[in-house]
Amino acid sequence: MFEILHTRQLTPVTKLFEVAAPLVAKAGRPGQFVILRVHGHGERIPVTITDLDPQAGTVTVVIQEVGATSKMANALAEGERFHDLAGPLGEPAPLREKGHVVCVGGGFGAAAILSILKGLKAKATHSSAIVGARTAELVILEDRLRDAADALHICTDDGSAGFKGLVTAKLEELITSGEPVDEIVAIGPMVMMRAVAATTAPHGIATLVSLDPIMIDGTGMCGACRVTVDGRTQFACIDGPLFDATKIDFDELVRRNKTYRDEEEAALHRYEQAHCRAEEAAAAATRP
Ligand SMILES: Cc1cc2nc3c(=O)[nH]c(=O)nc-3n(C[C@H](O)[C@H](O)[C@H](O)COP(=O)(O)OP(=O)(O)OC[C@H]3O[C@@H](n4cnc5c(N)ncnc54)[C@H](O)[C@@H]3O)c2cc1C
Ligand code: FES
Repeated sequence: MFEILHTRQLTPVTKLFEVAAPLVAKAGRPGQFVILRVHGHGERIPVTITDLDPQAGTVTVVIQEVGATSKMANALAEGERFHDLAGPLGEPAPLREKGHVVCVGGGFGAAAILSILKGLKAKATHSSAIVGARTAELVILEDRLRDAADALHICTDDGSAGFKGLVTAKLEELITSGEPVDEIVAIGPMVMMRAVAATTAPHGIATLVSLDPIMIDGTGMCGACRVTVDGRTQFACIDGPLFDATKIDFDELVRRNKTYRDEEEAALHRYEQAHCRAEEAAAAATRP
């Protein structure tokens, strides 16, 4: 059992958890992930390490609700516990010793790039972060990203904060501004990572993206997270999750991620029904 020491609701569907997990906090590296279970019979969900504090023995993760398990996780409060938290998993991000690295984050990816930016801060590397959200209220962890990156660029679709437009437009602007860019790391929705890859390819800049295929064991044995990179089968849980964006078969990944869509929708429906019934029962119990 892993106690939740602190939570912070970042948006209506995104929550930060600081969890007591001393061994993971000690061994974890930027770019790695953990696999959580909310309860003993639950699904295992992979989440990226947002931050680590080896002294305090804590691991910070940020979970965005998309289906039944992520909703169940985000219903947990301070003092409650995750049933298990396995990790650190995956290969750490390769942190450049010098040059200019641009980290691009969207959705939960804005949190996921934090550990990489903090890792780069310890090097002689100049780092920029580009973070995108639909609107100002959905920008997450701006304070921590500003501390970690040498330059932070917020982008919103409606222009309510920072640059008005997509992260890829800001990235193109940065690349063509004359300031050299040596590497790009993008984490977020698949559509964003694909668009980042298409933006950087004509400029020939090394681009890594963090893939999020379906995962089960996270140890390279079940094969669920199989992806094709440069024509070869790779397992994202042990060979990744970061891969060279120009070499990924994104079409296959999108197809494979839809494999259990019917089951995922049914699980969400069951969760929402049960949640409604619990709320009705609680309301009935307080009625005079
Ligand atoms: C290495 C790795 C790191 C991750 N890091 C984070 C993180 O830091 N924070 C976070 O919130 N999430 C992260 N994810 C994604 C997270 O694991 C999934 O959102 C979660 O497993 C969904 O479980 P669920 O039961 O809530 O939804 P499900 O019922 O499994 O899915 C509901 C719907 O969400 C969409 N969806 C679910 N999973 C994915 C996916 N992997 N890719 C694209 N669409 C998907 C699909 O439309 C699906 O139908 C990561 C995934 C991987 C593989
Ligand atoms: S999750 Fe099973 S092999 Fe990667």
